[in-house]
Amino acid sequence: MADNTRGLVIAVDGTAASGKGTLAKHLARTYNLAHLDTGSLYRGVSIRLLRQGVKREIDPQLAALEASRIEIADLNDPALRSEDTSAMASLVASLPDVRAALMEYQRQFANQPPDDHKGAVLDGRDIGTIILPNADFKFFCDAAPEIRAERRYKELLLAGETAIYADVLDAIKERDHRDMTRQVAPLRPADDAIHIDTGEFTVDEMVARAVQIIASPD
Ligand code: DC
Repeated sequence: MADNTRGLVIAVDGTAASGKGTLAKHLARTYNLAHLDTGSLYRGVSIRLLRQGVKREIDPQLAALEASRIEIADLNDPALRSEDTSAMASLVASLPDVRAALMEYQRQFANQPPDDHKGAVLDGRDIGTIILPNADFKFFCDAAPEIRAERRYKELLLAGETAIYADVLDAIKERDHRDMTRQVAPLRPADDAIHIDTGEFTVDEMVARAVQIIASPD
């Protein structure tokens, strides 16, 4: 199997809280791939802006500058998953100069994976369509907004944040809308992506399905 996984590059896209990150993490473990959660890049840029007192009015040049400064340490910031960061990330992600500044980082990660890994799995919104159109496998995860809101709500409570389910649901719907309708790199499945409705499966079933597809692609 080891030789079959040499240079394997997998794109996992999907809606917010669809389970794409969970799928990507499991695939990384299964095939010994480096994993990049690309949403954390946009979140990292947002934290940098929030810490400078930026609110909803974002200066695109400043945002692009901060995007060009993103480094590994930004991706481990404890504030990465907060609702403030999520809301700002969705705004930041609609700025073309920010996306351009982060594109190279993502491609470099896939082409030269860190820590001696031979391949990589990236999860995000535009990995299969824009960042890695030649990925070996592309998955697109989605589930009903109510299911995804429930998951995000529980995650927030577990992280010690106060959250109201109805607000989380509204925020998810707003983010979906913005991600799908933005001018640049809108969220959509690549034509050759394999769809996984993560509301229908347990994590183990979802991973097993993806592994089966990778093992016998036709
Ligand atoms: O997956 P996430 O919730 O961590 O993503 C945070 C935001 O970044 C979200 O609004 C979508 C955006 N994003 C994007 O536009 N493109 C990506 N490849 C990853 C995330």
